[in-house]
This record gives sequence, structure tokens and C-alpha cells, in this order.
Amino acid sequence: MQGIQIIGMGKALPARRVDNEAFTQMVETSDEWIKSRTGIQSRCFCEEEKQMDLCVEAAGKALADAGVSPAEIGLCVVATITPDYHTPSSACMVQERLGLPEDIPAFDINAACSGFVYGLEVVSCMLGSDALPRPYALLIGAEKLSRIMNFQDRSTCVLFGDGAAAAVIRPSDTHRFFCRLGSQGDAPALNAPGVGYPEPYIHMDGRKVFQFAVRAMENGIRLLEKETGVLANEIDQFICHQANERIIRHVQKKLKLPKERFYMNLDRYGNTSGASVPLAMAELMETGSLNPGTKVYCLGFGGGLTWGAAYLEF
Ligand code: ACO
Repeated sequence: MQGIQIIGMGKALPARRVDNEAFTQMVETSDEWIKSRTGIQSRCFCEEEKQMDLCVEAAGKALADAGVSPAEIGLCVVATITPDYHTPSSACMVQERLGLPEDIPAFDINAACSGFVYGLEVVSCMLGSDALPRPYALLIGAEKLSRIMNFQDRSTCVLFGDGAAAAVIRPSDTHRFFCRLGSQGDAPALNAPGVGYPEPYIHMDGRKVFQFAVRAMENGIRLLEKETGVLANEIDQFICHQANERIIRHVQKKLKLPKERFYMNLDRYGNTSGASVPLAMAELMETGSLNPGTKVYCLGFGGGLTWGAAYLEF
């Protein structure tokens, strides 16, 4: 089975950092509630930056990290629910801004917080098909969620943040990859209607999504164990969607896995949806925690409702 290898990553965050205290001016909430119920302490929000600026910055850094030039890219995919334009796709706009070759596929994936894991599977299938003109893929997760947040709704506005991260990926015979994706259509649980609808903001049934998230993570880990033969206690890093510290801790404790193998950065970024899994991965890479031989489970869940579970080797 042909696998994939992530050979470079980069991240981009807006300059403006907003702490929990700032929300007490907008809605009835407190730093204590937000910290204790979610683990979030601050997040970054765009001011002038567009989602595309974050995509281009993260992608440029990933290419530099991988030592790959834009001319060598054979596929460009962006996981996002907050593209700047309905069309062209963010991926086509990245292609234009970075001067990627003009004979490559470029498209977006809308799978909310599972988007980057969905992207890994799509990239792995396409890199394995020999259909691409060049051997490297650029996969970006990027969001400007502040654009679709209702700052008068305390049940959602304290949760989200903006950001992006990108990966350069190549096919590999020596790095195994396995992925399973799923969805259970449920718009009332989590949605953000488009422009023209009366309330074009994120709406979420937090409790329902919490229960789905815990189930999706547990099932994802069990499924990966069964299909890869690599047991959870042999995994070096669990890279989970960063929605809520309580979701991650619940699963870690229930499966009796070591706390330090579940990286968390949601305290600094909040829930950045499609950017969340790659932001965590990029930071683990920066700190030298994804060395050759490192085994990773990636677990995404979110709007759709969607879920994705992937096994990766570094
Ligand atoms: N400040 C103060 N009080 C609040 C706030 C706030 N910001 N938000 C809600 N409350 C109140 C509620 O009104 C409620 O009050 P009540 O008991 O008087 O009705 C109380 O706090 C408890 O509310 P719950 O919703 O039960 O709180 P819970 O502990 O479930 O935490 C949360 C809510 C953080 C949203 C949690 O349910 C969660 O993390 N859900 C999962 C979110 C997730 O995983 N999203 C991923 C996908 S996102 C995507 O795909 C874009």
C-alpha cells in the first residue's frame, strides 16, 4: 500500500489576540466560565487580514520548510468553511497568488473541523493515482470564523478563532497512511447559513455536538487500532480537533492513555475549525515532536456532522 509523507508545514495567525475578558464587554460571560468549560484563554481574530492572506502565508512557509518550489506542486487543496469568495475556490486563489503551475487540480473541501483529515484522504488517493503532473500536494486548512460569528451569542462567540496551517505532502512507500471518513447529515446540530439568510452566523447545539465529538473520537481510535494493527498505546501523538479541552480529556482518560500524548493549543487559538488539526501538527513539527518514526492518530469532528480518523507515520 502506498502511503504519504508530510515533508513541510507552516502556520499563519492574525496579529490581533483577544483574551476572554474582552467578551465580558459584549455578552454576559466570564473568563472563569470560558476557561473552566472549554480550556480556551485567548484566540486570534483577523482585522485587515483576509482568509486568503492566511492561506498564502501558511502555504509559503510550508513550501520553504519542505524545500519545495511552487513550480513542483501537482495538487492544491484548501479545507475551509470560510472562503473569501464563493467562487473561485480558495485553492484557485492560492494557485494564483503563489504562481502554482496551471495544469494542476485546485479545489476546496467543506467538511468543517474534519476538513484537514478529509483533505489527507483526498490527497493520498490523488497522489496514489499517478494522475497528477507533479509529485507534491499542498494541503491547507484555513478559517476566518470571525466573519460568521454572532458576537451577541455567548454560547458560540467565545469558542472560535481565526488561523491557518499548511502541509506539503508527497507519496511514500515507507510511510504508511490509513484514513476513514464519515458523516451523519444533521444541519440543526451545527450550521452557518449563507448570505441572504436572516441570521448568517454559526448556530450550534453545544451539548449535542459535544456528545457526537466524544463518540466520534472514541470510535475513530478503535477503528484505527483495528484497521492498522497499531494500538493506541503505541501512538506517540494524538492530534485532535481543538474544540474543547473537556472533550479531549474525557477521551484520553476513558481510554487510559497518557495525557502528554494529546497536544493542545486551544488555550491560545480557540476552535479554528479546518485550521485546527494542521495548526496543532505544525506546532508539534516546530518543536521537534514529529521525528522520523513518530506514529500519529489524527482525529477530526464537526459541522455536517462529519468525522475523520487518520493514521500517519513521520
Ligand atoms: N458564558 C457563560 N455562560 C454560558 C456561556 C458563556 N459563554 N455559554 C453558555 N452558557 C450557559 C448556558 O446558557 C447554560 O445556562 P443554563 O444552564 O442556565 O441554561 C450553561 O452555561 C450551560 O450550558 P451548556 O451548553 O450545557 O454548557 P456546556 O458545558 O455543554 O458547554 C460548550 C458548552 C462549550 C459549547 C460545549 O457544549 C462544547 O464544547 N460543545 C462542543 C463544541 C464542538 O465540539 N464544536 C466542534 C465543531 S465546531 C465546527 O465544526 C465549526
